Amino acid sequence: MRILMIGDVVGRPGRHCVRDLLPRVKENYCVDFTVANGENLASGTGFNEKTANELFGYGVDALTMGNHVWDKKEGVAYINRDSRIVRPVNYPPGTPGQGYAVFACKGVKIGIVNANGRVFMPALDCPFRRVEEAVKELQAETNCLLVDFHAEATSEKIAMGRFLDGSVSAVVGTHTHVQTADERLLSNGTAYISDVGMTGPYESVLGIDPEIVIKKFRTQLPARFEVLDKGAAQFNAVVIEIDPQTGYAVSIERIFDIHQL
Ligand SMILES: [Fe+2]
Ligand SMILES: [Fe+2]
Repeated sequence: MRILMIGDVVGRPGRHCVRDLLPRVKENYCVDFTVANGENLASGTGFNEKTANELFGYGVDALTMGNHVWDKKEGVAYINRDSRIVRPVNYPPGTPGQGYAVFACKGVKIGIVNANGRVFMPALDCPFRRVEEAVKELQAETNCLLVDFHAEATSEKIAMGRFLDGSVSAVVGTHTHVQTADERLLSNGTAYISDVGMTGPYESVLGIDPEIVIKKFRTQLPARFEVLDKGAAQFNAVVIEIDPQTGYAVSIERIFDIHQL
């Protein structure tokens, strides 16, 4: 079972990059199931029905989220209507959406858990405890489990990887929009990377027009962030091969591609 995990897809350049590259990537890497982080799908913050369905139409099977999940009110209204969307599990009880879900692919069940970190991020329930509970629930159904840990600090992410090593197939980091080169198999069979990176405008600052970000840093005046909508796009992802019998990872491979839109 080969799972493709695409890092934070940012705005139209990110969506169009997925549209243009996904068919070839799926073929080249023999991908069975595709997950994308969709917290920045709609104009860089949040998602809505239209942008989520755009990604599903391009061949994405599941969308995970992050701290920007609630930024578009259409997304908040839509999230309960689409079981392919998984939002961080450590929001308060009663929050719309689901923190984990099971997907079926070629006779194999794949469990997906999403969680937000809380180092240098808004305070939430403990991601370690909430993910542990979710993993226990999912293990009743399958041992093919992917955790998208949407967090800022590499320490918190590596700790999550170590914490879950051997009980899930993969722990992949998202949120920083910068791909790390530390992909590896941990000693008990879990694939790990601190951050998958971003799929979006290549000449940007984390997806945003550099002029706006630089001006904000230099002046400290409020600024409306806008996705850079010109130039090339980058496609950041990992492909994880999982032994469907055991749930252990066999390999993890990083993809960093640049694409002229
Ligand atoms: Fe993001
Ligand atoms: Fe984020």
